[in-house]
Amino acid sequence: MVRQDIQNIVILTGAGISAESGIATFRTKGAVSYWETTDENGVPILHRVEDVCTPEALARNPALVHRFYDERRAKLATVSPNPAHEALAALDAAWPGELLIVTQNVDDLHERAGAKRLIHMHGELQSALCAACGKAVPWTQALPPGTVCTGCGQPRLRPDIVFFGEMPYQMDVIDEALRRADLFVSIGTSGAVYPAAGFVQTARHAGARTLELNLDPSAGSDYFDETRLGPASLLVPHLVRHLLE
Ligand code: OAD
Repeated sequence: MVRQDIQNIVILTGAGISAESGIATFRTKGAVSYWETTDENGVPILHRVEDVCTPEALARNPALVHRFYDERRAKLATVSPNPAHEALAALDAAWPGELLIVTQNVDDLHERAGAKRLIHMHGELQSALCAACGKAVPWTQALPPGTVCTGCGQPRLRPDIVFFGEMPYQMDVIDEALRRADLFVSIGTSGAVYPAAGFVQTARHAGARTLELNLDPSAGSDYFDETRLGPASLLVPHLVRHLLE
């Protein structure tokens, strides 16, 4: 990778960048995918995606869906950014060209590390969305079903999470950035969930160099010019040192 040829950078992050901070990644057993939380005794509980991460699940069992995100939101108080988040924040602060960090993660570890040029394409745990009027408000506490929206007065506040089947946020901004990118880097994502899994092809088609940093080869590894395997906390600071050299 020749650093002098790079001006515009897009970085996609997934659950793997927060794994070393203690946030569980998405798990797949056979054809079934799960999110893991723990009960009050620290015993793991596996939640099927279709039970907690679809509009149908929210309609069917709002108490379960709200509780699941309440637990994940509460967990944020017990975790901290790791060297990978910190390195990306340092790159954001120092990089003179265009840079956009697009995260699929709903935790706040990128911004706690100091990243500014950041899009949460799958929503944020610390935001509540009114299902009636579409207003989003910062939210740090538990969010019981039936909570009233201060914008429209309807009791329709829900977790501000992009469920499967819903449109990710700011796709137009992301698409523009991908088309201008000289370097696209994917970090800690399995490449299984679209549209994020297709970003590498958009960037590559537009002429960007493409680099994957992941613990294991992802579903889309073949699309990348280069894949580096290892923990994000080592690979990301190494890449950032090279870019800022
Ligand atoms: P996944 O949990 O599917 O994948 C995590 C990836 O991170 C895997 O490829 C791991 O090999 C890798 N990984 C784990 N630990 C790592 C480490 N320490 N360093 C580097 N890599 C590591 O997570 P995502 O790809 O982010 O969507 O999942 C994508 C989307 O599916 C999520 O945003 C969520 C989920 O369902 C929604 O909520 C809509």
